[in-house]
Amino acid sequence: MDVAVLDDAEAVGAHVAALVADAVARHPDLVLGVATGGTPLPAYRALARGSGDLSGVRLVALDEYVGLPPGHPASYAAYVEREVATPLGVPSAHVVVPQGSGAALERRIAALGGVDLQLLGIGRNGHLAFNEPGSQLDSRTRVVALSETTRRDNAAPFGVDPVPTHAVTQGIGTILEARHLVLLATGAAKAAAVAAALTGPVTPDCPASVVQTHRRLTVVLDAAAASGLDGWRLVGGPAAERVHHPQL
Ligand code: GLP
Repeated sequence: MDVAVLDDAEAVGAHVAALVADAVARHPDLVLGVATGGTPLPAYRALARGSGDLSGVRLVALDEYVGLPPGHPASYAAYVEREVATPLGVPSAHVVVPQGSGAALERRIAALGGVDLQLLGIGRNGHLAFNEPGSQLDSRTRVVALSETTRRDNAAPFGVDPVPTHAVTQGIGTILEARHLVLLATGAAKAAAVAAALTGPVTPDCPASVVQTHRRLTVVLDAAAASGLDGWRLVGGPAAERVHHPQL
């Protein structure tokens, strides 16, 4: 596990953008798993400001709401197009977002040769993509019911519209097959979930805890999101501290 703790959300974005740009420089046809939500936005904006050619990258989304009309601005298909594909110059034909039961997504990922680099956010309740607490750790892409916490946390982009009750999400087993996981979290509201995910037991109660089992995990946090990591040793300068778990 490689953990970087940076000053703020902008610094997290710049760090993750550099990591992605470096991977694309080595593999112009990188299969990039994209997280949605607010956390990765600074990373996408920093990537868009960079000079690298990202037109060969393939984008795979983690999840999507069920039952929204096509093109709904709060849908993750619209998010990926608006916040990632268009600013990065990735053609729409290179974008895959789960739909329906999700079985087709598993086939598309297999046809792409798997996900090379997977960006991940984390829910306040420890959810990973839309794998809510209680999800099987070997689950595959499927339709799930959203918890009330998640529906409340995700309400803003829906305005007056009701937040969907269900979503289709890559399973935890599916996510773990990506070659490199990059978990991002910013803000104090994520501190408890981050601490549980990185230092607690690997358990369905905190789906994000499975990242501990991956052989290539990078965690990028701001200081507020890292504030629950008691007992971890900080090494390095204030702007780019590296954290090492005492047991690692
Ligand atoms: C959403 C998404 C997740 C995302 C998480 C955190 O429900 N399905 O993929 O990582 O919640 O979102 P945010 O970054 O806005 O806090």
